[in-house]
Amino acid sequence: ISAAQSQTTLESKLEALQCHFTWDLESSRPIPLRLKDHLEDIGTEEGNSWLGHIYNLRGFIQYKLGFTEDAQSFFNKAAEAFRRIRNADEGPWLVVNYGNLAWLHHHLGDQAESQAYLSKVDALMNKYPSPSQDQLHPEIYAEKAWTLMTFSTDKTLAVDYFQRAIRMQPDMVEWNTSYVLGLVDAFKYSDTGLEADLLKKMRMAKEQDPENLYLAVLYLQQCAKKGERIEDEARELARKVLRNPVSSYSGIRPLLGVYVNHVSIDEAINLAKEALEKHPDERYLKKCLAYCYKWKIFRERQRQSMIDRAISLHEEVISLYPYSSFVKEINLAKIYSKFNYSQDKAEQIYQELLERDLEPADKQMLYSIYAKHVFFSQQDDEGSLRYHMKVAEIPLKSIYRENSITTLEKHKNRSPMCREIEKFLANLQEP
Ligand SMILES: *[C@@H]1O[C@H](CO)[C@@H](O)[C@H](O)[C@H]1NC(C)=O
Ligand SMILES: *[C@@H]1O[C@H](CO)[C@@H](O)[C@H](O)[C@H]1NC(C)=O
Repeated sequence: ISAAQSQTTLESKLEALQCHFTWDLESSRPIPLRLKDHLEDIGTEEGNSWLGHIYNLRGFIQYKLGFTEDAQSFFNKAAEAFRRIRNADEGPWLVVNYGNLAWLHHHLGDQAESQAYLSKVDALMNKYPSPSQDQLHPEIYAEKAWTLMTFSTDKTLAVDYFQRAIRMQPDMVEWNTSYVLGLVDAFKYSDTGLEADLLKKMRMAKEQDPENLYLAVLYLQQCAKKGERIEDEARELARKVLRNPVSSYSGIRPLLGVYVNHVSIDEAINLAKEALEKHPDERYLKKCLAYCYKWKIFRERQRQSMIDRAISLHEEVISLYPYSSFVKEINLAKIYSKFNYSQDKAEQIYQELLERDLEPADKQMLYSIYAKHVFFSQQDDEGSLRYHMKVAEIPLKSIYRENSITTLEKHKNRSPMCREIEKFLANLQEP
C-alpha cells in the first residue's frame, strides 16, 4: 500500500476510537479555559476512584491548550492511576487512555507510535469485549459519562451513559453515586426540592457509599430545603469534611452553602477559616472563604473591617484563578460599588470585563449586571437601557434576557428613547 493510503487507514482507525479526541467535546463551543482551573481544584489525592479519568481529561485539555508535553505526562499518570486503583496491569479501562495516546502521537507526527497504541486498543477490545453486543464496554460508558458530567452543562447524556454502564456492571459503587449526582444536578435549580423518587435514590446511594461526603451534603441540602432542621447534622458532617483532603469534591463548598442558607453565615465563615488554617496555601479554600464573606456583606450590615477583608480576599482569589475569576470579579465590583462606595474602582473592573472576549452567556450576564449598575450607581437611565438592549440582543434564553425585555417594555412609553426602544423590541427575534 502507498504511504497516502496507509495514512488514510490510520486516520479512519483513529476516528473510530472511543476517547476524548473523538467524543465531540468541542461541538457546541471551544474548550472553555475555566475548565482547567476547575479540574485543578478536583485535586489528585490518592483514594479518589476517578483519578484515572481525571488525568485523562486533564491530558486532553492540556493538549488542546497547546501543552503537548504535559498532555503526554497526564496520560501516563492516568494509566498509572488505573493500575493502582483497579489493582491490575491492564483491563478495559485502558481503552480510552490508549486511544488518547494514539491520537496524541498522531498529532505529534509519530505515526509508528500511534499505530502501536491502535494495536494495543485492538488487543484490549478483543480480550475484553463488551458484555452486550451492540453496546460499548461499561468501563467506556462510565468514563464518557464522567467526562461529560465534568464538561458539559447538560447532564442528561452523562446520566444516560452512567445508566448503561450500571446496567451491565452493577457492582461499581462510584458509578451508582455519580449517576445519582448527575440526576441531582439536572434538577438543582428547583426551589421546592427534588422529587420523592430522586430523594429515595439519593438516600440509597448514600447508604451504599457512606464515604462520599459530597453526596451526603447534597442530601442534607435537600432535607434543609424541605424545611427539616439540619443544624446538628451539618456540624457533624463538617467535622468529617475537614478531615478529608482538599478537593472541590470534598463537599465543603455545598456544605458552606447549607450553612449560609440554613445554619448561620458566621459559622460558615468560621468553618471556611478552620479549613484554611489547616491548608493555608489552598486557593480553593480561599475561594470558599470569599464566598462566605460575600454573603456576610450582601445579607447583613457590615463593619468596614469586614468589607476591607472581603475586598482583599476577592482580589487574591481573582489572581489565583487566571481562567475562571469572572464571577468573582463581578462580585468584587459590586462590593466596591454598593458597600465601599468606591465607584471608580467598580467602574474600572466593569470596563475591563466589558472589553474582555467572553462567551455569549457570560457577556449577557455582564451586560445585565452592568445595566443595573449604570442605573443605580450612575443614575444614567439612558445608558442603562442601552445595556438592556445589548442583553436582549444576545440570542440566548435566560433570566437576564427576560428581565431586560421586561425593563425595556416598561420604558417603551415613557423614556426619551421610547421610539428607539419600540423599534428595537419590534425587531427582536426569539432565540
Ligand atoms: C447500583 O445500582 C444498581 C441499580 O439500582 C443496583 O442493582 C446495585 O446493587 C447498585 N450497586 C451498588 C454496588 O450499590
Ligand atoms: C473603601 O472605602 C474607604 C472609605 O472610603 C477607603 O478609605 C478605602 O480605600 C476603600 N477600600 C478600597 C480597598 O478601595
